Amino acid sequence: MRKITEAGDLKGKRVILRASLNVPVQDGVVRNNYRIMRALPTLRYLHEMGAKTIIIAHIGREKNETLKPVYEELEKYIPIHWGGVIGGQQFASRVELMGNGDFLLAENLRQDDREKTNDFAFAKSIAFYGDVYVNDAFANVHRSHASMNALAKILPAYVGLNVSEEIAQLQKVMKPEHPALLMLGGAKFETKMPLIEKYLHTYDKVFVGGALANDIFKAKGFEVGESMVSAEPITAATFLTDEKLLVPLDVIVEGPNGKRTTTPDDVRPTEKIFDAGPQTVEMLKKLIAGAKTVLWNGPFGNYEAGYTASTEATVTALADASAFSVVGGGDTVAAIEKLEVHNRLGFVSTGGGAMLEYLEYGSTPQLDLLK
Ligand code: 3PG
Repeated sequence: MRKITEAGDLKGKRVILRASLNVPVQDGVVRNNYRIMRALPTLRYLHEMGAKTIIIAHIGREKNETLKPVYEELEKYIPIHWGGVIGGQQFASRVELMGNGDFLLAENLRQDDREKTNDFAFAKSIAFYGDVYVNDAFANVHRSHASMNALAKILPAYVGLNVSEEIAQLQKVMKPEHPALLMLGGAKFETKMPLIEKYLHTYDKVFVGGALANDIFKAKGFEVGESMVSAEPITAATFLTDEKLLVPLDVIVEGPNGKRTTTPDDVRPTEKIFDAGPQTVEMLKKLIAGAKTVLWNGPFGNYEAGYTASTEATVTALADASAFSVVGGGDTVAAIEKLEVHNRLGFVSTGGGAMLEYLEYGSTPQLDLLK
């Protein structure tokens, strides 16, 4: 890949930097700045090189969401100005005022519908302000959007330090040291099924938890009550009988009679599965302790509803283990931040869906444009 460090003399050049700044915001304040921290090496590099860097990014999925809270967080670390909407009056005059080493943050790209449709004219209107394009938005590399795709075809395009680091670390776990354990949680089975099938070949054990496991329980003919399941059943999946595939041994359910821990084949029609139980955690602890590689994406319980126990116990087990670990996905990373064990893990990815897509295909169309 063409790295930013190979872009030559950037002094006084205008660099359009696509970053992943889609971070959790509550009451106008950034609640988790992990992605911002991971953007800093490239930002500092560009600052030292004397580039004039225009940062572009999206936040959330609603059109009215703003990057202003992210700007306030970034201000703590770099000399940055607020640019407002790209192409607006304020934006154009701010660009003119930029000195070498300065930064300008543009407003949420998704306020313009043309971002998501990969509109070439929209990308051109951004390219107008730059000499060079840098993609450092790993969490977004699975999105064929204008700032990720069309823009890379217009300007000389380079990969940033965060994306380079993500690729280097994910490459390691794609050829793992054995015994290797993959743990997948969260929901949306259909998006994770190809990954499960692929890693059942290369890994020694694949544990599937969270709402994904409900689909497996259902396919096995178990009652899953009110539990979250995918729209499409997975009965035809051949991996259901693969002995490398593991699912929760026990589950925590809630129903009209309250909360209880039970086995997956004992869920009542009025109950809902919310988390994996203590026996499952014990099984995972043993597997993690014996593994040389652990790859993990997605929580095992309904994190938003406060079912954090099995996910957090697994994070702790991973931090205590000697295995090389790579972990990604929003709620999983939130658990790592809460327990403050970042430095005791191999690598924490900034990607959720992007990490999964990279692990499945070893690249994405957006990354291919930077080769
Ligand atoms: C993420 O937060 O995982 C990425 O920024 C992608 O966001 P999206 O799923 O809204 O495209």
